[in-house]
Amino acid sequence: MICDFLMPLQLPLEIWHEIATRRTTISKPAIQLKIGTKRWHTVVEKDTSMNRLLRADITLAEYCEIVRRLHSIHHQLETRLATCSPMLEEQPTTKRSALLLSDIVYFGLTPIQPEQLEDYPLMLPITSREAALGVMYVLDGAALGGMLIHKQLLNNLFRQGDVGGLAFFGADPVAGMSQWMRFQKLLERTLIFQDQVEEAVNAANRTFDYFYQCLRFSQKKET
Ligand code: HEM
Repeated sequence: MICDFLMPLQLPLEIWHEIATRRTTISKPAIQLKIGTKRWHTVVEKDTSMNRLLRADITLAEYCEIVRRLHSIHHQLETRLATCSPMLEEQPTTKRSALLLSDIVYFGLTPIQPEQLEDYPLMLPITSREAALGVMYVLDGAALGGMLIHKQLLNNLFRQGDVGGLAFFGADPVAGMSQWMRFQKLLERTLIFQDQVEEAVNAANRTFDYFYQCLRFSQKKET
């Protein structure tokens, strides 16, 4: 029986039935996103050039190439998300590609055009609000790992004390965390039903796959 106390709202029984069967019962959407993408997070962290960022022997050339690739990824995804704005309650941030661009400029480099990447991968179109949230989850979550990476870079490549060229990884952690908390609330407000959560998880996994394809370059060169 569907909750009696809701019946005064006079919705047809089929609608209540749909709500009762679709509503997610497992856990908060943010936790499901974390669990549902865990495998991909490990792959991107360990099996791409991203792992070089944690190593003591990282070179400036490697760092610059990673920053250029990350800029290309963030710029493309942020541009796509901008077209989804009408579907979203909160505007996706475009700050990260701007930070990456300022690092590129600092080193006197030029941004990568997507077509320049070998085997340029295709990110599937973002066709729903749920998918847009899955993409935003990966972009916003990546900043959490950025704090750890920043610490390592300061210990290694940037240990001489020159911290120019670290705008992206050295971004204000307090602002990053408060953006993350706001985003968690947005997920909870928007992803009400299990099928919505699943759509977001699928889009997040596709986004990780896209990062993977763009960032596995040094693996290719080394093998
Ligand atoms: C060397 C590379 C990386 C390291 C060391 C790293 C590390 C971390 C750490 C320490 C956290 C926070 C702790 C946790 O909740 O698990 C985190 C969270 C996260 N990272 Fe990474 N990360 C890396 C690369 C990336 C990349 C490239 C992406 C995006 C493609 C990414 C996406 C995420 C996401 C979405 C979360 C949020 C997980 C959650 O739901 O709590 N990470 N990462």
